[in-house]
Amino acid sequence: MSRTSMQLFAVAALAALATAVAQLGSGVGSSGQPPAELCARTITVVETFSAAGLQVPMGINATDYSTWPGSTVGYNNDLVFGGSGMSNRTAGGILSMCFVQSASGDASYSYCIATATFSMGSITFQGPFPDDVDSVFVSAVVGGTGIFNGATGSAKVTVLTAGTQWKYKFTLMSKPACM
Ligand SMILES: *[C@@H]1O[C@H](CO)[C@@H](O)[C@H](O)[C@H]1NC(C)=O
Ligand SMILES: *[C@@H]1O[C@H](CO)[C@@H](O)[C@H](O)[C@H]1NC(C)=O
Repeated sequence: MSRTSMQLFAVAALAALATAVAQLGSGVGSSGQPPAELCARTITVVETFSAAGLQVPMGINATDYSTWPGSTVGYNNDLVFGGSGMSNRTAGGILSMCFVQSASGDASYSYCIATATFSMGSITFQGPFPDDVDSVFVSAVVGGTGIFNGATGSAKVTVLTAGTQWKYKFTLMSKPACM
């Protein structure tokens, strides 16, 4: 191999590796198909809070909930597969906007709209969000894209730790459009 073709080969190999790593991270199987978890009517994932993904309006104290009511805050976090939050298998990400109705201590009561984005589509759901110890509630899935195009159904939310970790169990009316 000439030096140039070796360099090209190295660049191509690196690009292939980067693609493979990116696909691992976003939950795409080696065949280019979504992982089996995304092709079922029921999908369970966990979101964990990251301070880096939080946006609060200017003048609002990001670490003091008592200053949040009346504001809309944004969350941008990772999702992992499974219900424990410990799987370390990245499923995708979730972007939420919540209007905070009330807050006290570690608990808050908001109205949220959220989109969970996976490798081959997204699920959007919304509803009241009582973020409190032992809180379990159901939100409406109002739409989707990609393999979840036109999704309807429910999102059962379990607060694992208020303000920190939330489990979502999506139950869709029809199966995602996997091959
Ligand atoms: C924000 O709230 C935290 C926790 O209550 C407090 O320690 C900190 O001083 C507050 N920051 C400002 C700028 O008020
Ligand atoms: C996930 O990562 C954490 C932190 O690195 C580790 O403690 C835990 O054992 C991992 N869980 C699994 C199921 O591999």
